[in-house]
Amino acid sequence: MALVLTRQDVIQVLSMKDCMVAVENAFVELVKGTADLPLRIPIKSPDGLSLYMPAYLREMKALACKVVAVYKDNPSRFNLPTTIGKVLLQNPETGEVICIMDGGYLTAVRTGAASGVATKYLAIDGRELTVGVFGAGVQAQTQLWAVTEARKVKHALVFDKDESASRKFADTMGAKLGIDIGIAKSAEEALETEIIITATSSPTPLFNGSLVKPGTHINGIGSHTPNARELDTEIIKRSKFIGDSRDACFKEAGDIMIPLQEGAITETHFYAELGEIITKKLPGRLSDDEITLFKSNGLAIQDAATAKLVYDKALEMGVGREIDL
Ligand SMILES: NC(=O)c1ccc[n+]([C@@H]2O[C@H](COP(=O)([O-])OP(=O)(O)OC[C@H]3O[C@@H](n4cnc5c(N)ncnc54)[C@H](O)[C@@H]3O)[C@@H](O)[C@H]2O)c1
Repeated sequence: MALVLTRQDVIQVLSMKDCMVAVENAFVELVKGTADLPLRIPIKSPDGLSLYMPAYLREMKALACKVVAVYKDNPSRFNLPTTIGKVLLQNPETGEVICIMDGGYLTAVRTGAASGVATKYLAIDGRELTVGVFGAGVQAQTQLWAVTEARKVKHALVFDKDESASRKFADTMGAKLGIDIGIAKSAEEALETEIIITATSSPTPLFNGSLVKPGTHINGIGSHTPNARELDTEIIKRSKFIGDSRDACFKEAGDIMIPLQEGAITETHFYAELGEIITKKLPGRLSDDEITLFKSNGLAIQDAATAKLVYDKALEMGVGREIDL
């Protein structure tokens, strides 16, 4: 028997707060060496990219594989989200698939959760902060949600190249999170904030990195291929660079790979993996003037940890449908 969980089921049982705890533990397992995380397998088709993402977290007993697709024209062509996927969760003792769940909402929440954890460890602490959000799509929503779990936020600014998307985001997320969200007229205006989120489908830099204020923390989550980047060379040079995984950053993240190829930085510019900051192997922010940057490529350990959390919660709450496959 396998438990089948629809998108609505996942929404019912998954909270950002719980997900941040699970994802933080997953990053700790990665650093401790108790996680198996092969690099994901990409397959390109004419209209998009499919990624096959397996992981095993031994302490959490979470063994899972996600099939996720990123098709950037899906919203306009098919009225479907850009990012869609499903997760298979296995019993690590028997190998049996015990749950099949929708992966769209799960991906958005686990991606938000990683940035929430990074914000908790790296952003300026002790006072209310403002947030600049680049992109007003699906991921941007859970990014802002997670940041508000990590820090007190009263005001945010959103900047999307599609102004109607910005307006919708400001209305919906302002009401959901109970914060004031304004629409930035330009990328520069959105930089007048203390935490910056980049969650767009843009393959080229979103702003001039020399304009970012000292003390800013950036969560860069959008681009994830060697030739695409949301962040320019200047902001990479000015930042303390923390990645979700060293391996993924040097193989998938144009944000750091392009400045490396240009000779603007060397590999030592990669300061730490997020897990090394969480476990205090390396210190995070050292002053209120430092610019910290978390580059998220999206790791299968985030999916495995979140899928296990969702499965356990669904069993506890009696949610989902058992099917004999
Ligand atoms: N790091 C991770 O773990 C992770 C996980 C899921 C998705 N992603 C990536 O995040 C990105 C966003 O995904 P989504 O599902 O939110 O997509 P989406 O299509 O819902 O939203 C993307 C938004 O970016 C806007 N945009 C594009 N170029 C822009 C620019 N130059 N300036 C301002 N806005 C711009 C678009 O108008 C759109 O509203 C994608 O690249 C996706 O692959 C990363």
